[in-house]
Amino acid sequence: MRVPLASSGLRDQDIQAVLRVLNSGNLTMGAEVKNFEKKMATYLGVENFVMMNSGSSANLLMIEALMRPSKEKPILHPGDSVLVPAIAWPTTIWPLVQLGLNPLFVDVNPETLALDLDKAQELIDTSRIPVRGLFPIHPLGYAIPPSKLDSFAKRNDLVLINDVCESLGSWSEGKHAGTSGVMSSYSFYFSHHITTMEGGGVATNDTNVADDLRSMRSHGWSRDRTDVASWTDKISSNDSKFLFVSTGYNVRPMEIQAAIGSLQIDQLEKFIEKRRYIATKVQKALQDSKLKIIGASSLDDEEARKSNSWMLIPIQVTGKDALNRKRIILRKLEELEIETRPVLTGNFLAQPAIQRITRHSVDPEQFTVASEITNTAFLVGAHHDLSEEQIKFLCSSLQSVASI
Ligand SMILES: Cc1ncc(COP(=O)(O)O)c(C=O)c1O
Repeated sequence: MRVPLASSGLRDQDIQAVLRVLNSGNLTMGAEVKNFEKKMATYLGVENFVMMNSGSSANLLMIEALMRPSKEKPILHPGDSVLVPAIAWPTTIWPLVQLGLNPLFVDVNPETLALDLDKAQELIDTSRIPVRGLFPIHPLGYAIPPSKLDSFAKRNDLVLINDVCESLGSWSEGKHAGTSGVMSSYSFYFSHHITTMEGGGVATNDTNVADDLRSMRSHGWSRDRTDVASWTDKISSNDSKFLFVSTGYNVRPMEIQAAIGSLQIDQLEKFIEKRRYIATKVQKALQDSKLKIIGASSLDDEEARKSNSWMLIPIQVTGKDALNRKRIILRKLEELEIETRPVLTGNFLAQPAIQRITRHSVDPEQFTVASEITNTAFLVGAHHDLSEEQIKFLCSSLQSVASI
């Protein structure tokens, strides 16, 4: 029986909504996007949500907004260093590189896979490179406690932005993951907690930042800003529809994506409960075995459960010769049609693309936890569309390979 990492995630009602929008003739960004943005802001408990065509675009625009704001002084400047985790997604890192910043990699915590703040502090205290930003990923459904991020950023005078593309629906200390910083990014790519097929966006409580994001996603124009009148008053000779107030891209979402998102967000809590149910079943199946679920302690009690929305399930092979045993286990799981994948990209420093662009030549093996995770851990699916039979088969298959 095939157990995939993800499914399309679309329901009949989503497809009906797409048809309704297509038949309406309103295809490009409009009322559906506004409605979805309002729902997302309410769900996350923030003032503004700005939808885009992907989580990658959301990351790009967060950096652009910090470097080229239309009204305030820039917060980040070319050459500034920003702390990022060694287990990362490429498009968390590339916007920094593309816009002239220096990604400063920090090893991850072996229990959470998130950027290790103690190691980050050591790096700041011992290196002579001035650090200006903190850009953690909330990995695989895990919400990093906001108090830890906030106090670290404050203590070191850093701007805090959060990549929450893998952790929608995850809460810590009463806040949604990532919402305590200046901005946080989300992805609605089809394998994630909700889908808009492709899609993403940025949450922020800062209205100026939100206005800049609205300009930057759409060529830099002023049209969708809340302060559009203040710009048109200044430059009365131009048609206000064609007034450009910032740098920009075209990373707008489409109406069909937002129409799906508005229906999906209503289902989010149900989807996440199912994901937690799958993680609980897998945890029970692997109890006292040599396969360890990373982050399993979040299943211990009601409060901790909220802090993990289980995008996928990270499993680590423990004991002797783990690397070779992992290879055998993955081969066996493949034969059983249980889909697996590496933990994000593994140690990102070992990827050929990053090797070419890091300014200070770095040895990937320096990041010992990231390397260990790359060698010994893998991911299996926790998608909310898995059937009871698939969940049972996943558990029994994992149990059967646990003794290897
Ligand atoms: C941590 C992280 N950031 C960014 C992204 C990019 O999101 P998207 O695929 O919507 O561009 C992903 C994708 O899964 C991700 O895992």
